[in-house]
Amino acid sequence: MRSRRTSRRRTTSSARTIEIQSLTGFRDFYPDELALRQHVFSAWRRVGARYGFTEYDGPPLEPLELYTKKSGDEIVGQLYHFTDKGGREVALRPEMTPTFARMIAARAGGLPKPIRWFSIPQLFRYERPQRGRLREHFQLNMDIVGETDPLADAEIIAAAIDALRELGLDHTHIVARISDRRLVSAILSALGVEAIDHAAVFGALDKLEKEGPEKVGATLRERGLSDGAVDRILALGPLSLEGIAETFAADAGVADAAAPLVEVIGHLEASGFADYVRFDASLVRGLAYYTGTVFEIWERSGELRAVCGGGRYDDLLSALGGVDLPALGFGMGDVVLCELLKDLDLVPPRSARVEDFLICVTEDERATALALARALRDRGRRVSYDLRARAVGKQFKSANQAGAARAIVLGPEESARGVASVRDMASGDEREVSIDALMNGDNHGKG
Ligand code: HAM
Repeated sequence: MRSRRTSRRRTTSSARTIEIQSLTGFRDFYPDELALRQHVFSAWRRVGARYGFTEYDGPPLEPLELYTKKSGDEIVGQLYHFTDKGGREVALRPEMTPTFARMIAARAGGLPKPIRWFSIPQLFRYERPQRGRLREHFQLNMDIVGETDPLADAEIIAAAIDALRELGLDHTHIVARISDRRLVSAILSALGVEAIDHAAVFGALDKLEKEGPEKVGATLRERGLSDGAVDRILALGPLSLEGIAETFAADAGVADAAAPLVEVIGHLEASGFADYVRFDASLVRGLAYYTGTVFEIWERSGELRAVCGGGRYDDLLSALGGVDLPALGFGMGDVVLCELLKDLDLVPPRSARVEDFLICVTEDERATALALARALRDRGRRVSYDLRARAVGKQFKSANQAGAARAIVLGPEESARGVASVRDMASGDEREVSIDALMNGDNHGKG
């Protein structure tokens, strides 16, 4: 007998030494973290619904080619990809837009336009983990397909701002930086940069914040841009739309390319978002598929990476699915957002797990307690009780730990009279209530 016990104990202790940790950059969601995640997702879903969007989802694993075709080098370099057992090259989705474009293209004919869909996928990117940047994250994606009018661009940006306002952030916390690749392209052409080099210049400009003007300037010079052109490109950032109009007054192409953006900003101002938006000609975004409006929402101090990014990608559906439909949208990450909510004290307290905690003074009351628990739960009340016979004091302790609003005490003397003693856990007030009334729901919410 003794030897069996010893050997069991040894097994346990050796099992404990094999401690498998989670992967770097991946999160465990303990109840507090999951409560915050659900708080964010619920807010996102409310805003999605308010803007008339419907929810969809797709597979987390996709053919590798879906990303190598159009997403751009940066994201392709961060892919989790492998060859599956059937010899297919596959990748965990690093973003939702290619899946969305593939799904829409496959059914485009049968879907009434414009299409307004949203999703909250978990995404995977092999990045260097740091504050606000992990190897998995969730992203609210809202996209519109089938509309070229700048009103659609304004609608998408307004939805992104509202998805943050819904969580308590306002213009003092966040700013949406907006630009348009068509405008930046027109400026580059006016500066004598060949169209074929525009994509490479976008890629270099996107790194301005991270790498600084010297390194980006060197990259641009390597591409053959003149010193004058590089200086003027690097000086674009602080220019207002009026400033750009003045600087490039001689070039009609620039004024034409600025028109949609002027309209977008006008619509946002009319919607009451003037304090939230700022034109920023240095913004181009990293993903390769954007063709028009681009925007990012940042916390004003700029300490964290962008909380949201998006834009217009009018060619992606034809590249991935052979369907010529304009599209635009954004992705908003939960990691940066939750950091912000914590910094700004905007995380709500967790709601109590339990409303009613049932306490049996003796086991003779168990059957009544179980019947009562069932009746209360059937009516949607959150009910709990200790899962073994314990002293009344200990059961009250459990009630406290569970955050119960009221304790319903069933004792032999009270049961004989058909009543229970109901204690309001916050005030400590106690009163007798008939068990029938509790069963039938005549006493909900009352102490
Ligand atoms: P993105 O800029 O790559 O755009 O990502 C959007 C947001 O997701 C970022 O602003 C950031 O908050 C969050 N995010 C991205 N990577 C990470 C990471 N490694 N860790 C934590 N958060 C991250 C896109 O993905 C586009 N597909 C968005 C889009 C939708 N454009 C049009 N429709």
